[in-house]
Amino acid sequence: VRKLLLIGIGAGDPGWLTLEAVAALQAVDVFFALEKASEQDDLAGLRREVLARHVSGTPRVVSVEDPPRGRSAEAVAEWRRRRTELVAGLVRDELADGQTGGLLIWGDPTLYDGMRDVVAACGVEYRIVPGISAVSALAARHRIALNRVGGGVQITTGRRLADGWPDGVDDLVVMLDSSLAFMGFDADIYWGAYLGTPDELLISGRVADVGEEIARVRAEARTRKGWMFDTYLLRR
Ligand SMILES: C[S@@+](CC[C@H](N)C(=O)[O-])C[C@H]1O[C@@H](n2cnc3c(N)ncnc32)[C@H](O)[C@@H]1O
Repeated sequence: VRKLLLIGIGAGDPGWLTLEAVAALQAVDVFFALEKASEQDDLAGLRREVLARHVSGTPRVVSVEDPPRGRSAEAVAEWRRRRTELVAGLVRDELADGQTGGLLIWGDPTLYDGMRDVVAACGVEYRIVPGISAVSALAARHRIALNRVGGGVQITTGRRLADGWPDGVDDLVVMLDSSLAFMGFDADIYWGAYLGTPDELLISGRVADVGEEIARVRAEARTRKGWMFDTYLLRR
C-alpha cells in the first residue's frame, strides 16, 4: 500500500512542530508540494526551512502547481475535482508500493485547510499529524485564553462575520478576513499578523480605540511584504 501523511508544520515559527511531526517528516519517502502560482515566497521558504532543519540529506520533493480556484460553486467543485486528480496522480506515479508521501500543511491540518478532503477523496490510506494553528499561536502571543470560564468560542471567517455577529457566542476567532470585518463592533480585539515570524505584529484593545490603528498597520505591512496573514479574537 501507498500512504500519505498530512503533517501540520505550525503557523509560522519552525519551532511550532511537534515531536510527532518531526518523526513523521523523517518517515516520508517523497514530499509533495502543491504550489499556488501566487504563493508568497516567504511561505515556500518556511516549508523549505522545516525540511532543511528536520530531514537529513536531500529529501525528494515533487512540486506541482496547485490549480487556481474560482469563485462560483461550480468553479469550486471543479477545483476540488482537479486537486483530487492531481494528488491521486502523484500517489500513483511517484510512490512505489510500501512508500509514504508527505504533505506539509500550514498550521494545523484540521483547521481551514482543504487537503484532508482531497486526500480522503483519493481513497488512499492517510494519517493526520496535528500542528500548532494560528489560533493557538494568537492566544499564546497575547497571553490570553481563547475561552472565558465555562464559555464557548466560535472559529469563523471574515466573510461570515461581515454578515453579522453569530448568535449564542460572545468570543469569536476570525481567520481569512481581508475586509476588516471587525470594524464597528462593540468588543475587545486581540489581533495578530505573521505570527511566529520575524515580522510578527500584535495589537489589542477596544475595537473603537485600536480598529483604525490595526487597519493602518495592516495596510502598511501588506504593501511592504506583498501579502498578509492575520487572525484575531473578538470578545464582547
Ligand atoms: C487557509 S487558513 C489556514 C489555517 C491553518 N491551517 C492553521 O491551522 O492556522 C489561512 C488563514 O490562517 C490564518 N493564519 C495562518 N498563519 C498565520 C500567522 N502566522 N499569523 C496570523 N494568521 C495566520 C490567517 O487568518 C490566514 O488567512
